Amino acid sequence: MKDAAPQPVYLEDYTPPAYLVDAVHLTFRLAPNTTRVLSRIEFRPNPDATSRDFFLHGEALTLISARINGAEIIPEVTPQGLSAIVPDAPFTFEAEVEINPEGNTALEGLYMSNGMYCTQCEAEGFRKITYYPDRPDVMSIFTVRIEGDTPVMLSNGNPTGSGAGWAEWHDPWPKPAYLFALVAGDLVAHPDSFSTRSGRHVDLNIWVRPGDEDKCAFGMEALKKSMAWDEEVYGREYDLDLFNIVAVDDFNMGAMENKGLNIFNSSCVLSTAETATDANFERIEAIVAHEYFHNWTGNRITCRDWFQLCLKEGLTVYRDSQFTADLRSAPVKRISDVIALRARQFREDNGPLAHPVRPESFIEINNFYTATVYEKGAELIGMLKRLVGDAAYKEALDLYFTRHDGQACTIEDWLQVFEDVTGRDLSQFKRWYSDAGTPRLHVSEEFNNGRYTLHFEQKTPPTLGQEDKQPRLIPIAVGLLSPNGDEVQPTQVLEMTEARQSFSFDGLATRPIPSILRDFSAPVILERESSNAERAFLLAHDTDPFNKWEAGRALARAGLLAMMTEGAAPDAAYLDAIARVARDDTLDPAFRALALGLPSEDDLAQALFDAGHIPDPQAIWDALETLRDTRAEALESIAQDLYSRYQVTAPYRPDPDQTGARALANAALAMLSRRDGGTRAQAQYDAADNMTQQLAAWSCLLQAGAGAAATEAFYTQWKHDRLVIDKWFTLQIVQTAPDRAAEVAETLTRHPDFTLRNPNRFRATLGALTMSPAGFHHASGRGYRLLADMLIRLDPLNPQTTARMCSAFETWRRYDPVRQGMIAAELDRILATPNLSRDTTEMVGRIRG
Ligand code: ARG
Ligand code: ZN
Repeated sequence: MKDAAPQPVYLEDYTPPAYLVDAVHLTFRLAPNTTRVLSRIEFRPNPDATSRDFFLHGEALTLISARINGAEIIPEVTPQGLSAIVPDAPFTFEAEVEINPEGNTALEGLYMSNGMYCTQCEAEGFRKITYYPDRPDVMSIFTVRIEGDTPVMLSNGNPTGSGAGWAEWHDPWPKPAYLFALVAGDLVAHPDSFSTRSGRHVDLNIWVRPGDEDKCAFGMEALKKSMAWDEEVYGREYDLDLFNIVAVDDFNMGAMENKGLNIFNSSCVLSTAETATDANFERIEAIVAHEYFHNWTGNRITCRDWFQLCLKEGLTVYRDSQFTADLRSAPVKRISDVIALRARQFREDNGPLAHPVRPESFIEINNFYTATVYEKGAELIGMLKRLVGDAAYKEALDLYFTRHDGQACTIEDWLQVFEDVTGRDLSQFKRWYSDAGTPRLHVSEEFNNGRYTLHFEQKTPPTLGQEDKQPRLIPIAVGLLSPNGDEVQPTQVLEMTEARQSFSFDGLATRPIPSILRDFSAPVILERESSNAERAFLLAHDTDPFNKWEAGRALARAGLLAMMTEGAAPDAAYLDAIARVARDDTLDPAFRALALGLPSEDDLAQALFDAGHIPDPQAIWDALETLRDTRAEALESIAQDLYSRYQVTAPYRPDPDQTGARALANAALAMLSRRDGGTRAQAQYDAADNMTQQLAAWSCLLQAGAGAAATEAFYTQWKHDRLVIDKWFTLQIVQTAPDRAAEVAETLTRHPDFTLRNPNRFRATLGALTMSPAGFHHASGRGYRLLADMLIRLDPLNPQTTARMCSAFETWRRYDPVRQGMIAAELDRILATPNLSRDTTEMVGRIRG
């Protein structure tokens, strides 16, 4: 018998839990295939409830026995959970269940990774551990006993006792089940400690498999910096005597903020100079901070239901971006964030997977851990801060923490603190949470008798279920420059509230050049007629680093579009302007490295589509290659100069200065390798004593078609290191000519080191293929076929990772009918797979439309 199609859950159907939990005691008798979980849960009827039905979530559990107030009961059990008749007064529920961690390849609930037990409960994984009201608005105090033969056994909170074969933990802070964690295995700690500003001594550990001890130092420094930063900037102190981080090799996401026991994908915490790149270090620092910051924004104040996910994720991403901006370069962080936002979130918002920052329905919540919820969610916090100002933002956050500590909250609660502090009505702003789609902001200008006027018009394209959109409140940061390059109007934030609205500036001697949407003050697409001369002018003179970079990016994009649609030659204005930036030693090397970046293939595909063309992935690739070759020739002497002047000779440190210098030198090396056939890259490869230099050199060698020896040497050198071998898989695919990418990826899926069991390796291989659009979309259809084949194979093992990777197909409607036909056929083939997971069914169904 086939199960009925899974039904969506709706935000508007929310009802409070029927029963609350005062305390829960769990005992784990660990065994790889037959772990027993004994629970004792103290329930009490919720006075605010509208129902008295007693239902506990539970999936893939074998119920051994259940008792209420000590008396055995025979509950009604379905694949989703358990119901029973219960007293109309507080009562104790006990159950014993059996689960199979070793057989758990979905990596949700309790599973095993390299012989180690670990858990992932967000969002709805706890129900695979035992019967429980697995919803975030049920918060309780957890006491946990672990019995097993592993040397280290960890859970949330503080250790309260241990002996041969057992350990007990108690977490004094009430928490929802999704923040529960257990880890047990043969682990070693990298220990340290931190004193909070009120004098609490906190023991810190990063737990790893033996052999990885030397990879923890940087993550530990990042943790201590995060703890200090949250005290200083948000006034938030840590609230337990112990903070543990565990590195796990098999993990679906980046990391998880379980109370006092954060669990990390090992790729997001382990690092050494030899094995991690500068970019890896920066990401590790940000993720350690992100998970730590969740202790307040997520754990102390959690979400009422999963529709409110952005309440904790948008805010915590915003907080970690502030942290990185403070520790490193704020402009470089902002530019990098916007590049990522456009690449992932704008793309999502513009296709069949578009959804509001606060979705109104879902079938599988794991499919909503998206760029929209996270990154657009963070942009909304940034807009709010810009609108109310720094002081009011701080006051509102203080009020949020005092008013809602210990609660499970909603976006309404969040906006209310801002309304209370500022007296503003934020109902229009709230549309940012409820309306999907990226607004297009069109602007035109007028200059008359010293008065300069900007006419704005906003429009958000319809998205599924949302045809007509009301105008949103858009903060538009604007500055004006005079033609001689002086700033005549410093940044001012215009608040647009109407569909059409004009803003004037008086007393100007000459027509100014506007710098609009400075610092990317709102997540919108700015549409403005501009000339290359004006873009070059802003690239040279804008005082706003974001818009300075943006001008260079626009110049590059315009030139590339002209190459593709008009057969134009590479744009001399761009080459000139970028040469000037590259040479300008007053500019931060990291900024110059970013300015030397080019629009992505995906960016250009969308730009072509928006301009009414059908994008040809191969033609996009060719145009980019032509521009890169031409630029390498035009900037050859500059590149030589930069390459020699920005070599770092001091011992490796992943700090902003060295990182920026290496980024610029390696951007130069990429140009030089197009001229010298890879001679310098080979020399750098041979001399490299850190992964940043080694990987950059190997990448240039592959690009120059001279990488075969390095490919072999790299494997031999690193075959013992899973995280480095992930890079080995990825780079070969992304640095292959498009007509060979699918073939290279396919060959690598047959490499003995390829496995479907490890999400990092799957992403390193298939994810890499999708990151190379000309390869993935190659006219042969081989890329589509390979991805679909592998998704069909992965789905029965790991639905979450399968479903996430389906988004590679989300842009399919922008391509030609032949490609669309091939993709539709693959999507249909996936959908027709027997027993396809709910996760993948939902994703493919939405993409297919
Ligand atoms: N809350 C985690 C974070 O810090 C993400 C966990 C999501 N996991 C999942 N299986 N959906 O962002
Ligand atoms: Zn998070």
